[in-house]
Amino acid sequence: MARATSDVEQLRNFTGRGLLLLGQFAFMAVGITIVLLLMNWKLALVSALMFPFLAHTVVRYNQAAQPLFYQVQEALARLASVTQENLAGAKVVKAFVREEDEIAKFDAQNALLEAQYIGAAEVQSFGNPLMDMIGNLGTLIVIWFGGYLIMHGELSVGAFVAFNTYLLMMVRPVRRLGFLINQTSRAIAAGERIFEILDAPIDVQDAPEAMPLPAVRGEVVFDHVSVSYFGGEPVLRDVSFTVLPGQVVALLGASGSGKTTIVNLLPRFYDVSAGRVLIDGHDVRNVQLATLRGQIGIVLQDTALFTGSIRENIAYGLPDASDEDVIAMARAARAHDFVMGFPGGYDTRVGERGVTLSGGQKQRIAIARALLMDPRILILDDFTSAVDSETEALIRAALDRLMQGRTTFVIAQRVSTIQHADQILVIDHGKLVGMGNHEELIESNSIYAEVYHLQLMDEAAPAELAPGSTVPADSSVPSPSGSGLG
Ligand SMILES: Nc1ncnc2c1ncn2[C@@H]1O[C@H](COP(=O)(O)OP(=O)(O)OP(=O)(O)O)[C@@H](O)[C@H]1O
Ligand SMILES: [Mg+2]
Repeated sequence: MARATSDVEQLRNFTGRGLLLLGQFAFMAVGITIVLLLMNWKLALVSALMFPFLAHTVVRYNQAAQPLFYQVQEALARLASVTQENLAGAKVVKAFVREEDEIAKFDAQNALLEAQYIGAAEVQSFGNPLMDMIGNLGTLIVIWFGGYLIMHGELSVGAFVAFNTYLLMMVRPVRRLGFLINQTSRAIAAGERIFEILDAPIDVQDAPEAMPLPAVRGEVVFDHVSVSYFGGEPVLRDVSFTVLPGQVVALLGASGSGKTTIVNLLPRFYDVSAGRVLIDGHDVRNVQLATLRGQIGIVLQDTALFTGSIRENIAYGLPDASDEDVIAMARAARAHDFVMGFPGGYDTRVGERGVTLSGGQKQRIAIARALLMDPRILILDDFTSAVDSETEALIRAALDRLMQGRTTFVIAQRVSTIQHADQILVIDHGKLVGMGNHEELIESNSIYAEVYHLQLMDEAAPAELAPGSTVPADSSVPSPSGSGLG
């Protein structure tokens, strides 16, 4: 954020005013030098004696100042991120009674910035007067040598006064040079930081010979896929599976097992480190990103909405969508009723200056947003984690209809959400340890069976805890479905 605002501002200051002054100065310097040489070349050469010293000082000063200004910008950025975190996490800070510590953190960062600023100012406060002094010494030499020339009749008093006036016209720009160099140093430091971002390699982009992905049927194949983020430990190991068009695939596994990582590979948020991901036989790395992502609808685990109306948020991927379509999708995602509950309806603004939606409301807007794209491949990552089980059942019923003809990846914690899937993939520590439908897995996969029975127990628990009843100490609770631990 600091690079996008404060650094850009530094650069703008320089290109807006600094460059103009620099150009003006160069123009004046060349013009006056020519006039001085024509008036009296001896005196002009003597007055030029100071320039090597001046140039030397300018270069030295620049070398010293530039890294300092870079550090100042860095410290400014860190201070901005501390402030930003504190504002965004204000509730967490309060909940954990960490106000004093956060203030201390800010103060420490602020003190660092102050120190860095003062360091830069010290260099500045030494450099600028030094450059002035060299300029003034030059004037002294001119007066001395000019006097000598006048006494020997080589220069009239009038000509000397004119010469000196011209020279004084140079003094102002020279004095400004310090300020300009300052601004230039800052601009260079800021420019470096901006270009670090502009030049950062893009991890995922279109291959040079990438073709548009034609309209897909939705067959997805993972062919011996391994993934490690940024060259670290592999988080997916040799995962292979095939999903037929229109199938519903559920992913089940502990937190951190790699479920989100698997679905992230489809829209190429990341690339595989080994193996291939194929959609309708096309390796996702060989097709144009826009045509790939345009056919995939995603409800992410951490939903982000944008400042704007609810209608704009639902129509985010398809800004020209008709009101009927927006409302139909909102109904399907069970968002219509609560949206109509707002005085502004679909024009209600959300985001910084609008209403604050609850977690479950946000998720339902995100589901409507994904459905509106009418994607062939739909990814629902933990899409019901923030809604109650009743709403979840309602959304699921609506989705059953909308999932028709789409390949759908569902990640959910509740077995009840996924047990009707055509295929369930059981993920454990980045490995695919089970694959099949509910009936098959309950028989053959111990992890799946364990999760299933634990959840059934959870659902049964409130009844068991009715007053007067005793809580069974072991796990031999008869499960309502009657199927025993496989
Ligand atoms: N962007 C990333 N950079 C580095 N490591 C990551 C990144 N995203 C995930 N990981 C790591 O990869 C592993 C798998 O993460 P992933 O998000 O796929 O888990 P998950 O199964 O979706 O978990 P959850 O159920 O909690 O959402 C974790 O160990 C995680 O720390
Ligand atoms: Mg996840």
